[in-house]
Amino acid sequence: MKQHTIPTPQFVQFELPAASVVHAELLAGLRETPPRIAPKFLYDALGSRLFDAITDLPEYYPTRTEASIFARHGTDMARHVPEGAVIIDLGAGSCEKAARLFPVLQPAAYVPVDISVDYLRDTLAALQQRHPDLPMLGLGMDFSQRFALGATAGRWLHDRALTDQPRCVFYPGSSIGNFMPDEALALLCQAHEVCAAGGPGSGLLIGVDRVKPREVLEPAYDDALGVTAAFNRNLLLHVNRLLGADFAPAAWHHVGLFNAELSRIEMHLQARGPQTVRWPGGERHFAAGERLHTENSYKWEPQAFQVLLQEAGFGEARHWTDEQGWFSVFWAPA
Ligand code: AVJ
Repeated sequence: MKQHTIPTPQFVQFELPAASVVHAELLAGLRETPPRIAPKFLYDALGSRLFDAITDLPEYYPTRTEASIFARHGTDMARHVPEGAVIIDLGAGSCEKAARLFPVLQPAAYVPVDISVDYLRDTLAALQQRHPDLPMLGLGMDFSQRFALGATAGRWLHDRALTDQPRCVFYPGSSIGNFMPDEALALLCQAHEVCAAGGPGSGLLIGVDRVKPREVLEPAYDDALGVTAAFNRNLLLHVNRLLGADFAPAAWHHVGLFNAELSRIEMHLQARGPQTVRWPGGERHFAAGERLHTENSYKWEPQAFQVLLQEAGFGEARHWTDEQGWFSVFWAPA
């Protein structure tokens, strides 16, 4: 009888910062006024699942709006994104968005990158079963610090004769919105370098959420079921684990508001009452009503984003949008 081998994706975990570096980053943020914790700490295994649940909420329009753009314009996009590309998926999470594009983009390889390593390992293993012939390499990496493929990934591509294939850096979901404009520019510059190192036709396929009325924006980040609130509070459980701290999630109120001046949604956790949070070697007092800033989600006008792409070194980008003009997907050639 013929032996069936079950393919397992290659998985490389590198450049994940040491515990001491993570501690230092968390403590620095907690010491600031106002205190803040970076949004990447929203994504432990439970946080990644809660985010997936958010994408199913009626109020959370970005995921389904972006999906409708891909469904409607995917074939047109495939006229620009070269066939046989190595798809490098930033913040891949469940890998579902990229997987849905495999039939239309016909990639030569799939390289998902995510900070939530255990979650990525599980989802990628399942995806490899569905696409046994597509080479897959998972990268556990905090690309918010610095994004580059690194030597191990370079060797993996080389061993499979994929070095000269075009590259498609895929950054959907408006995750670029987590970055302040100057940080976003830095990340796009790094994405441009990764693209430019690939074969001709390489580029960036990126989803960007647009400015729209507060009445639409705010419920998307403060939903009736409280899933976003749970997602936000779960960051405290994650920090408790990382730092050995004793944040009490129930003592914090979820805040999601649109800061029109800065064109961004802000998420905060607001102390319901005065409290002291302790961890080995330190503590911090929070007054009643004091806020811990946990996330920004910038909303971009397409014009402004085009400029940003050009500043990062990309050529003239094209973009597709939905009927309401709520969300845009850009293809920016390297
Ligand atoms: C994953 C960063 C795109 O900003 O909309 C969802 C994260 N935060 N609800 C977003 C998020 C609260 C999401 N991104």
